[in-house]
Parts: sequence; C-alpha cells; structure tokens
Amino acid sequence: MSIGREGAPIVAVGGGKGGVGKSVIAANLGVAMARLGFRTLIVDADLGAANQHTLFGIDRPGPTLQALVDRRIESLEEAVLPTGIPRLFLVPGSGAVAGAANIGHARKQKIMRHIRALEAEALIIDCGAGTSFDVVDFFGMADQRLLVVAPQLTSMQNAYAFLKSAVYRLMKQVTQNAREKEALASAVEGRETERLREVFARLRSQEPELEEALALAVGTYSASIVGNMLEQPNQRAGLVALSRMMEDFLSVEVPVRGVIELSKALHHSVTRRRPLLAESMTGSEADTLMALAEELITHDVSTSRRVRSRDIRPDEDVELDGPLAKYLRRHPRVPADVAASLEVDGQSWPARLLDLSQGGARVSCGHVPELGAHIVLRLPDYPGRPSFPAIVRNQGAGNGRVGIQFDGETATRRAVALVQAMAAERKLEVGSAPGV
Ligand SMILES: Nc1ncnc2c1ncn2[C@@H]1O[C@H](COP(=O)(O)OP(=O)(O)OP(=O)(O)O)[C@@H](O)[C@H]1O
Ligand SMILES: [Mg+2]
Repeated sequence: MSIGREGAPIVAVGGGKGGVGKSVIAANLGVAMARLGFRTLIVDADLGAANQHTLFGIDRPGPTLQALVDRRIESLEEAVLPTGIPRLFLVPGSGAVAGAANIGHARKQKIMRHIRALEAEALIIDCGAGTSFDVVDFFGMADQRLLVVAPQLTSMQNAYAFLKSAVYRLMKQVTQNAREKEALASAVEGRETERLREVFARLRSQEPELEEALALAVGTYSASIVGNMLEQPNQRAGLVALSRMMEDFLSVEVPVRGVIELSKALHHSVTRRRPLLAESMTGSEADTLMALAEELITHDVSTSRRVRSRDIRPDEDVELDGPLAKYLRRHPRVPADVAASLEVDGQSWPARLLDLSQGGARVSCGHVPELGAHIVLRLPDYPGRPSFPAIVRNQGAGNGRVGIQFDGETATRRAVALVQAMAAERKLEVGSAPGV
C-alpha cells in the first residue's frame, strides 16, 4: 500500500524545541504501530542532526534522505532500512551535513513527493527542531501532527511559535492566486499578535470564498500535544493551558493527547540504542505510547486531505453526478501529460491524460468511446499504476478528446490523492533547479 494514495496515515512529530523527546517518541510510536501489525516506516526528516538510526543501534545507515537530494539514489525506497523490529523500517536522515538543513523549495518538494510514494501502512516523520520552513513543511504534510512539549516554559513557547508558523504556512498554501495571496498578506500584515479569527473577520467582507477555505483548513487542522518528561502530575495543567491558548489565538483545537513522565527507562533506552517498546511493554510509558499509536493508526485521513487541497466543503458529497463541465468548475483541475490507456469493451487503447480533477478527467485517445460508455482509465507509468472506472460524459469536436467522470467512491478517492500528488509535482516544476 502506498501512503499518500491509499489513505495510510502520515504522522509528524515536531514541537519546535530541541531535546524535548521528539525522536524518542517517534521511534517508540513506530515500534508500537509495527506491534499493532502495520508495516510502518519512520522517516528521519531532521535535516540538521538526524539521529533515528542511532536510536535503533544502526551505525552506518547507508543512503539517506540526503542521497536523494544529491541524486545518488533514484527513489527513496532505496534508502529504506530494516530496524531489526518486525514490520518497522527506517529512512535515515543525514547527520550534520553542512548545508543540508537548508534544502530549498524544489528539493523539499522532491523529498515530500518521494515520502508520499513510500510503500507502507503507516508513516511517521521525525521533524527537526526550530521553526524554519523546512521543518514546518514536513510537519504540515502529515495527516496528524504531534507537538512534543516538555513542561518548561521555553518548550511551551517554542511549541506555540512552531504551531503558529505551521498554521500561517498552511494558510499561504490554501491561497490560489496572486489576488488571494495579496488579500491574506494585507489582512495579516502588522497584526501577527492578534487572534486569527480577527484576521478571518477582516477577510470575510473582502474575499469571502478565501475566508471560507481558510477557516475550513485551519478548523480541520489536526494537531495534538504530547507532554513529555513530566515530573509532577500537575504539570499537565500547564499543557492544557497551552492548548487553550492555541485554540484561542490560532483557531485550532490542539488537545493534550497523552503525557509521558520523566522516565529512567526511556532515558536508558537511548543509551542502549534500542527503543523502549522493543524491550518492554510494561510501564505507563508503554501504555501511553501504545494507546497513542492505536488512535493515530485508526484515524481516517481522507477528509483532511480533501479539505486541505480545497477540493470539497465538508458538507459536500464526494460522489458527484451531472455533466463533466459542471463539476470541473467545482473542483480544481490539474493539468497533466501522462501516458494512459482507456479500456473500452475489454479492449485497451493508448491514450494521454490531459488533466484531472477529483471528479473526472480529460483524455485524448485515438479511439473515442461512445457517450455514456463505461470505461476504465489506467495510468500504467504512474506510481502504483492507478486505474479509474469512469463514464464518458463528453467528446471534443473530432479532436479525439473525451471528458470522463469517475465512477464510484474508490475511483474518486484515488483521484483525490492523485490530484494532490500531481499538484505537488507541478509545484516542483515551477522554479525548480534543473533535474531536481
Ligand atoms: N520521557 C523521558 N524521560 C527521560 N528522558 C527522556 C524522555 N524523553 C526523552 N528523553 C531524553 O531526552 C533526550 C533527547 O530526546 P530526543 O533526542 O528524542 O529529543 P528531540 O526532541 O528529538 O531533540 P532534537 O530536537 O535535538 O532532535 C534523549 O537522549 C532521551 O534520553
Ligand atoms: Mg530529534
């Protein structure tokens, strides 16, 4: 199963501050998910000082994320390492390579595209410290985001700043054109300390559609706090206060999902270079981490992904009918130029995918099937070789082009994922360095 395409959850572990336990928690969550029976992959996206491999006792990790950036490997799959724990694998990051922490937009897009294409049933991204765009973007690409927070004031401040950067980054990504970007920038400008809902209120009169999309994306942003290294039970109250402040100022609900105490066992597991849950399943740390893993793995990722891509409103049905032209206006179309084939009456015809939305596609094909025909669109060269049962809804005037509407929920779900992947790729082409 491929992550971004089939709905396997992507969980990011971040939190802004260094040394609060992000990597230790990511490693143990990985062990927990693997124990629950899921083929799990941890991606060490800490580009400054990757150390996941050390936590698993691996000395020389071989190819890393950096190898992909340097084009020493073609696919991130080549960097996947066994961890010694059944069903758990690791994509290591590079330890302190000069310049690696600043990879630039195109390279980051490439890494994210490769991460989404990895074969797994669950994926955990260990984000580095700090609030740079690189860190924030890896955090943002997940379906669920964990902010690891220690009960110290500095950790709480950093977690707030980190979430704020992530939310502002998300809002920027939701804007679709220069006018919207401008409207958002002027609504925010000079007022970074005020509540987000006041920014929304200002936008509402000026750009109601944008305001609606932003409020929806922010309102469905999935993040939670994991307290770590608590020394007294009452320290939980500080985390709850942080959570309330996040909701008040940033309009996102960030519940405290679990707390882990300061634990000698966890500390020693780092020295022994073996995650605690690989050794022992007793103790409150193990209980908390297992419960957290179970919640994360059963999370339905489809809605958050569609909302983020601005494909649907929550009250909108994914199943669409009516002519193609109608719903193509309702859903963003991604231009494509991808080899395809159309299966018509059991016969396969070479075709070209011209563009795609979550509802349907335009295809050029030497053989133009009849209106209303049930066909299958296949993309044999695309990762995962997706196929889409569809119905022919219109035919271009003698130019071999057909408009098709996807038939059934599975096809729609696949299309949603593919639209996102293609949109991400398109971004890659815009302004990318040659060959990246
Ligand atoms: N609950 C805990 N109890 C005791 N020690 C802990 C706990 N969690 C983490 N640690 C210790 O804190 C250290 C730092 O943890 P970790 O490397 O996971 O932090 P990090 O947030 O990933 O840091 P960085 O930002 O540098 O990547 C570890 O060496 C570990 O020993
Ligand atoms: Mg770390």
